[in-house]
Amino acid sequence: MIGIDGSIRAARVFHVLWHGERIAHDVAVRQAAICDNAKAGRFFTLQASQESIHATVFHAATAMLAPRARMMLTNAVTALDTYRRHLAHDLERGHLVSTIIGLQIVLEGLGALTLAHINLALSRYGARFAPYKRLLEQQEDTHHAFGCRWLAHEDTASIPRMAADARRYFELAVRRDR
Ligand SMILES: [Fe+2]
Ligand SMILES: [Fe+2]
Repeated sequence: MIGIDGSIRAARVFHVLWHGERIAHDVAVRQAAICDNAKAGRFFTLQASQESIHATVFHAATAMLAPRARMMLTNAVTALDTYRRHLAHDLERGHLVSTIIGLQIVLEGLGALTLAHINLALSRYGARFAPYKRLLEQQEDTHHAFGCRWLAHEDTASIPRMAADARRYFELAVRRDR
């Protein structure tokens, strides 16, 4: 069982994940709107509904572990807000591939890594969240794999542009000065 400090730390992680899930939901909704491929559009719509459920799970987890905590404005949340603005910038310009790099490749990849490192055995609520964790991991893997397949089918001429976008998003994702 974890103590008060441990609960607050875990709540902070869940709060960051909640924030990331809301970004993923909003971006997937907009990807569906700008995508001209019906099958991909259905994928983005399904992803958006799954991200919405993920957000609900992490919100509940945050509230359960730190019921009296007010909004937790951590550095990670601030960094995610910057990340969201870059995604919004690409969405406004209809740069679907850039947003797939930013969301499905980078953000989903980081989210999956974070999920994989959460040790539910440390929490007294761990057993309750275990089935959700497995489901979320499966769905995040599917989202990430979709992005990888999408990039694999892109024209090789667009590789320099994709590399630049990937670097930009990776730089934002790993910034530690915030
Ligand atoms: Fe998610
Ligand atoms: Fe996802």
